[in-house]
Amino acid sequence: MEFRPLGKTGIRVSPVALGCWPIAGIRSPGVNDADSLATIAACFDLGINFLDTAYCYGYDGESEKLIRQAVGDRRDEVVIATKGGIRLEPPDQEMVHDASPASLKAMCDESLQRLGTDRVELYYLHEPDPQVPMAESAGAIRDLMESGKVLAAGVSNVDLDQLREFHANCPVSAVQPPYNMLQREIEKDLVPWCLEHDVSLCVYWPLMKGLLAGKLTRDHQFPAEDSRLKYTMFQGKEWQKNMDFVDRLREIAVRSGHTVAQLVINWTIHQPGITAALCGAKRPWQIAETSGALGWQLSTEEIAAIEEAIRSRGTP
Ligand SMILES: NC(=O)c1ccc[n+]([C@@H]2O[C@H](COP(=O)([O-])OP(=O)(O)OC[C@H]3O[C@@H](n4cnc5c(N)ncnc54)[C@H](OP(=O)(O)O)[C@@H]3O)[C@@H](O)[C@H]2O)c1
Repeated sequence: MEFRPLGKTGIRVSPVALGCWPIAGIRSPGVNDADSLATIAACFDLGINFLDTAYCYGYDGESEKLIRQAVGDRRDEVVIATKGGIRLEPPDQEMVHDASPASLKAMCDESLQRLGTDRVELYYLHEPDPQVPMAESAGAIRDLMESGKVLAAGVSNVDLDQLREFHANCPVSAVQPPYNMLQREIEKDLVPWCLEHDVSLCVYWPLMKGLLAGKLTRDHQFPAEDSRLKYTMFQGKEWQKNMDFVDRLREIAVRSGHTVAQLVINWTIHQPGITAALCGAKRPWQIAETSGALGWQLSTEEIAAIEEAIRSRGTP
């Protein structure tokens, strides 16, 4: 199994990580505890040692609590990343920023308790809080590192200036932006900076919330509670263009003997600077299929065919 260094920490992670947002069950329909626990447990057999969660994944930390239950006494075999700085605000449970030093430290303590652990390997600032100077949020995570509750620091949803400011106040080991075949903005500045500073990029939405997993059909009817409907990628003409794009990927995938999801994740984890793709799943078969992206490489011709498909799809 391939494991990659997480920044300069000495920690090694699988290039496919389990994204533990869907199992929180907040905005993805059809989630149940039995499948969620089985999905996390499947990682042990699939060569996946990297779990990505957050304080706000669940109305009451369901994602972190399920990880505790599924991992049990195998804690030392997994690298857990969680995030603080966003919480759900009653009565509507809207996500709100809350990244003051006091809040970040309280959230971290609560996350450790839910996870049943005395430390997490990686703790991210989930998103900069417009009300709190970045230096203060970063300083709180540096304090958490000094206390041993957090082994390495990360930051998510930042532009390059914000990343630089975070790093000036707390040495960063990992950055977590969105990235997939259709969303490649980070290639112009975050990727070169991370490569230069030996910082890992652990990217979210590699399957664009299932769009690039190759299973959704053109006429798929999303239930009203499915949050994907709010993204233009899932609407009208954009949806049709994306389905055309997935059809082209399918041809390349079939020729290479892989599924669309495997092709997409393999491409993602071999892009320059990418340490890991955070792959969401709510059923064991999904993460089992996605883990089939590990252990092989696309040929030069296949990469060229994918780049041509991306080019002709155009920027969404
Ligand atoms: N830092 C941040 O602000 C941030 C934001 C978003 C996400 N994240 C992290 O990144 C992770 C990934 O994002 P995500 O979970 O939203 O989206 P994703 O990984 O792009 O897509 C996950 C969804 O794709 C579908 N899927 C997965 N594997 C599949 C397969 N083999 N075949 C068919 N469908 C498959 C499932 O949806 P269906 O079964 O419903 O089709 C699954 O819920 C999250 O779990 C979270 O850890 C972080």
